[in-house]
Amino acid sequence: MIIGFFSDLHCGREEITNGDRYPSRSLGKLQKLLKDFEDKGVDLAICLGDVINGSVSRADDMEHLARVAKVIRDSSVPVLVMQGNHDFRNFGDDVFYRITDFVRPPFVCRAGDVNLIFLDANYKSDGTRYGADGERIDWKDTNIPSDQLDALRDILKGSPEGSRFWLLCHQCLDIGVEERHIVNNADEVLDIICNEGKDKVEFIICGHYHPGAYSIDIGREFITLPAVCTGKDFNPDAALILDTSHIPNFRG
Ligand SMILES: [Fe+2]
Repeated sequence: MIIGFFSDLHCGREEITNGDRYPSRSLGKLQKLLKDFEDKGVDLAICLGDVINGSVSRADDMEHLARVAKVIRDSSVPVLVMQGNHDFRNFGDDVFYRITDFVRPPFVCRAGDVNLIFLDANYKSDGTRYGADGERIDWKDTNIPSDQLDALRDILKGSPEGSRFWLLCHQCLDIGVEERHIVNNADEVLDIICNEGKDKVEFIICGHYHPGAYSIDIGREFITLPAVCTGKDFNPDAALILDTSHIPNFRG
């Protein structure tokens, strides 16, 4: 099974923000990206969050979410959509999925020979979910709550020898990237990967840190996807295409 990953569309009205972010161009890039996935035989696409930029208004976010939803609906490649911190800027959790027909990823799902685990770090350090209290979020206060860590531990521990897992999260789990982009309790996830996930977790794929990154740590490959919103033109290299039959080096 071939899976295409992409992240950080930051769709919106602005031509340019933050120096190199082009929100108004992201919708066109998404169309090209999904067409590219189609041409390359991608079976499943996964968006790792920050679908909208969330910097103008709630109405603007709703309009852009609806536009993205239409592009995704018109694509022949099914797309699972995770949420990023920007998707909570102007509204809570329910709105994001209620006004779109985005397929919300389950905590774990099977894709070919691989189990995908969707970690959600859109939580404050006190355990409150972003958007739940109507307060503006501090994007650096990003945490994976204990119930997800327990579930991750249980799933890995309970899976038979030889099981294969890829972990996905919008915010960064690669501790080599700029610190403010890293999930505050990333070390707890790394511990689980080293223990319960030993010989089972193959890739850790994230977004959020727009330049993107790649590193090998604790014997695993950490891939941070470059943001789709960066630059004026569509860059097919911002996406990652992986075949689930690909066996990583550490398995020999
Ligand atoms: Fe983000």
